[in-house]
Amino acid sequence: MTESTTAELLSGMFGLHGKTAVVTGASSGLGLGFATTLAAAGATVVAAARRLDRLEQLAADNPTIIPVQCDVTSDTDRQALIERAFKVTGTVDILINNAGMPGPPDAEQETAEGFSSLLDLNLAAGFHLSTALTRRLDEGASTSIINISSVIGLVSTAPIGGASYAASKAGTLGMTRELAGQWGRRGIRVNAVVPGWFDTDMTDGLFANEKSAGWVRRNTMLGRGGQPGEVNGAIVFLASDASSYVTGQTLVVDGGWTAR
Ligand SMILES: NC(=O)c1ccc[n+]([C@@H]2O[C@H](COP(=O)([O-])OP(=O)(O)OC[C@H]3O[C@@H](n4cnc5c(N)ncnc54)[C@H](OP(=O)(O)O)[C@@H]3O)[C@@H](O)[C@H]2O)c1
Repeated sequence: MTESTTAELLSGMFGLHGKTAVVTGASSGLGLGFATTLAAAGATVVAAARRLDRLEQLAADNPTIIPVQCDVTSDTDRQALIERAFKVTGTVDILINNAGMPGPPDAEQETAEGFSSLLDLNLAAGFHLSTALTRRLDEGASTSIINISSVIGLVSTAPIGGASYAASKAGTLGMTRELAGQWGRRGIRVNAVVPGWFDTDMTDGLFANEKSAGWVRRNTMLGRGGQPGEVNGAIVFLASDASSYVTGQTLVVDGGWTAR
């Protein structure tokens, strides 16, 4: 096979030219990597988060990234985000529900209000954004929705993690399967990605502290935390035609943390 044939084959499978993607939580950490990678693969990316200055900085370096300020827990903001994304090409091909926050690690420190608001952000916001999108899609649209869960949605990582966070991330997996079941015959695919431990604002301090960094290394089959960019391949796979027959699945990218 010649070099150009290989490049054409890969671009046909994994390329995202002409596609519009929405990425929430694109102002930092994993979401920032998802937005730049999808843009590099050819998509126009509508990047959403509350910190507009960060999104504008991202867009300044990436002409195919469109910054949109959005609090995903606000219905008004969610509707405006979807409207803005539809203006690009008249449809949305990829939605990545990535915005999220950690909760308190100690169950007895969780308040009723805090528990509910974490579920609102980490679980319900992605659901409402997904339905706001699918209600607008034309028949035959082959949209891919990717929900970002966590290893804490699959196994307990106590004393790190927390009950509200675990509930939100386990709920994300159930929601993913259910939406895949409801929407599969329309051609809409819904999958979840489960990252292991990555050094971001959310895991602030985990890798800086030798005790917790050692705990990550010891309990991960590959003997290390995730490097920046190591979830991006899973995202491109699930966003692209390479995964056209994959739906309702959980793709774990955790260096073997949950396979012990
Ligand atoms: N890092 C890890 O080890 C790890 C492991 C498993 C799963 N995850 C998951 O990966 C996702 C990204 O986390 P991260 O590690 O990249 O952390 P991060 O750097 O703190 O990013 C969180 C993102 O969510 C956005 N966000 C928070 N609240 C929001 C709201 N109300 N509306 C809109 N955006 C909001 C933040 O943007 P603004 O503050 O600008 O709004 C930020 O862009 C989360 O769902 C997290 O649970 C992370």
